[in-house]
Amino acid sequence: MRPLPFRFTKPLNRPIRDWSQQRVWIIGASSGIGAALANALLDRGSTVIMSARRADRLHEIAKGHSCAIPLTLDVANAESWHSALASLRGQIDRIDLVVFCAAKYHPERSWELIPEETEDTLSINLQSVYQGIQSVLPGMLERGEGGIAVIASVAGYLGLPNATVYGPSKAALINLAELLYSDLHTKNINVYLINPGFVSTELTAKNNFFMPALQTPEQAANAILQGFEEGDFEIHFPKRFTLILKLMQMLPYRWRFALIRRFVTA
Ligand SMILES: NC(=O)c1ccc[n+]([C@@H]2O[C@H](COP(=O)([O-])OP(=O)(O)OC[C@H]3O[C@@H](n4cnc5c(N)ncnc54)[C@H](OP(=O)(O)O)[C@@H]3O)[C@@H](O)[C@H]2O)c1
Repeated sequence: MRPLPFRFTKPLNRPIRDWSQQRVWIIGASSGIGAALANALLDRGSTVIMSARRADRLHEIAKGHSCAIPLTLDVANAESWHSALASLRGQIDRIDLVVFCAAKYHPERSWELIPEETEDTLSINLQSVYQGIQSVLPGMLERGEGGIAVIASVAGYLGLPNATVYGPSKAALINLAELLYSDLHTKNINVYLINPGFVSTELTAKNNFFMPALQTPEQAANAILQGFEEGDFEIHFPKRFTLILKLMQMLPYRWRFALIRRFVTA
């Protein structure tokens, strides 16, 4: 019998074992999950480039860490990308892993859309990831190694009310991460799709509804690091919540809409 063209047990990515050798660029590192991830990586001895708009927050996280590189960046601004990349080239010779974490979330129903907000959210959540990939991928391809991690969301699994722009931007990121994996894994570049459930951050502070299985940013950072270390492609957490949503995703639309109406729509 011919062997199957894949093995069920082999990790989809090369597990990361030694964080002290890693140079990680976290884009969206000034608060929440990105800040917790930066702290966890600095504790493990990684070189961490931390980007966001709020420079004071980045410098606060960097305090006392010789391997921290605060790098101010507005991902929605092309000029800002150019100056950040120029500054980075002067400080570091390679990036092993980039984590796209920056996002904007504005809860709104479909009849409450504001054109500028829509454009801004899509630019920060989605367009900026393309810009970032185009910035780091050539170097990774040239070296024949590297890693790209995209933080999407379980909001990208299903069309959920209130996430009118955020949800589709995250669904697009899920699709993008899948195709990046297919494109890049044969070129020795790891691709990770990170789908958190609810995490208590500035982003979710805008929610006025009960958030089941809410996690702390530190719990989220630990789950993400564990996923990297195990070589997972999709890193989703907490499983007790994400698996229910994955199950809902498989239901016929009639049942899905009924459940969403029952549990999500006020
Ligand atoms: N919290 C959750 O429940 C949850 C669930 C699923 C997925 N996620 C995802 O997890 C990631 C982190 O979110 P979080 O919850 O930690 O939110 P957060 O605390 O609000 O962090 C968002 C980060 O994005 C940065 N950012 C926003 N706009 C930016 C811009 N134009 N340029 C550069 N950086 C920008 C912010 O920094 P500055 O404001 O300083 O620029 C901040 O560092 C996001 O991708 C989010 O969608 C979160």
